[in-house]
Amino acid sequence: MKKLTIFTIASVVFAISVSISCKQGDINPAIEVQVPPYFPPMVYDLQKNPVTQAGFELGKALFYEGQLSRDGMVSCGFCHQQSAGFTHHGHDLSHGVDDRLGKRNALPIQNMAFLSDFMWDGGIHDLDLQPLAPIENPVEMDESLPNVLEKLRRNPKYPPMFQRAFGTPEITGERLLKALSQFMVVMISANSRYDKYLRGQIQLTSDELRGLQLFKEKGCDKCHAGALFTDQSYRNNGLSLEFNQDLGRYEITLNEQDKYKFRVPSLRNVEVTRPYMHDGRFRNLEMVLDHYSEGMADIPTLDSIFRRPDGKRGIPMTAEEKRLIIAFLKTLTDEEFLTDKRFSEEH
Ligand code: HEC
Ligand code: HEC
Repeated sequence: MKKLTIFTIASVVFAISVSISCKQGDINPAIEVQVPPYFPPMVYDLQKNPVTQAGFELGKALFYEGQLSRDGMVSCGFCHQQSAGFTHHGHDLSHGVDDRLGKRNALPIQNMAFLSDFMWDGGIHDLDLQPLAPIENPVEMDESLPNVLEKLRRNPKYPPMFQRAFGTPEITGERLLKALSQFMVVMISANSRYDKYLRGQIQLTSDELRGLQLFKEKGCDKCHAGALFTDQSYRNNGLSLEFNQDLGRYEITLNEQDKYKFRVPSLRNVEVTRPYMHDGRFRNLEMVLDHYSEGMADIPTLDSIFRRPDGKRGIPMTAEEKRLIIAFLKTLTDEEFLTDKRFSEEH
């Protein structure tokens, strides 16, 4: 409880929600990205790419622009849907142009400014470079950056938007990527009921509080740690290889020790990001908790946390304990973020 008190006091001093402050009379006002005091330091360097109103709006238009894909149909927002925490609702594996199947479950886009590496395997280190992966991936957008830029130059909507954001109408790859980052950097989810509880604005129910306590007692927070609910490490949590043989982190490092390890995902908005795990194998949170208690396969790189002295694997939990942990996980749902019009596609 001590820690929580500190959060509460700190939050009185700092403004909490992301606020877009506009200086009157400015043609392209700056957007101030405000971070809750209990968040880790921001990794993204805002000095290199200051967020402005026009840059944010351009980034949002590009995020929902089908022309970024070969067939004109698949935008970033196609696979990253707001109501599903910017994941691909109902799809275990993402699918892109011509309905081609990808090999992984789409990750949520939220709090991106605080991550040092991106993707399930951490293969990308700079948010500004991340969009090149889906644009050029044959099973996602299957397009080339030069082609995308040509299409945007021919579209009367874009040169004026680039002009407003960057001072001249020139459409370059760097500008496109910077605008997308400006949009994504502002997408901070920090208004869940759990956040409001940390800030002393609401009380959680007794079930939710017991769930939070169990989340810690059972050691979930050793990996799903801190305000982001991830320590950003790569771990194996015992998913059986029968379903899927994705090598994960090994594909980046080629280190045997990294086989079948994946970046610990954030649990913010986890209630709406189903299905779960890198391959979307579990349809609901009950299945996830059953996996942690009795479903773990004996993978050589299985995290030592899950190996018990009696030779069994996993975290023992009763049905009631699972129910309470799930009740707590649902407090991480941020309705304001999931319905925030600033991030919604305009029709
Ligand atoms: C066809 C579906 C699809 C499309 C289109 C798509 N994504 Fe993704 N996105 C994914 C999947 C799947 C992952 C996880 C990939 C992996 O880990 O290998 C991902 C991961 C990401 C991540 C990393 C998140 C994290 O936590 O590391 C970001 C950021 C992102 N996408 C942004 C974008 C942007 C911007 C666009 C448009 C230029 C886009 N995506 C288009 C499916 C898609
Ligand atoms: C040793 C680190 C570790 C511990 C401890 C741990 N997890 Fe995980 N968790 C992971 C990793 C890694 C993944 C992703 C695995 C994958 O997809 O291959 C994950 C995935 C999840 C997911 C799916 C999220 C998504 O978006 O797909 C949930 C939910 C989850 N864990 C909840 C829990 C709960 C509840 C506990 C405690 C009972 C727990 N975890 C303990 C590392 C851990």
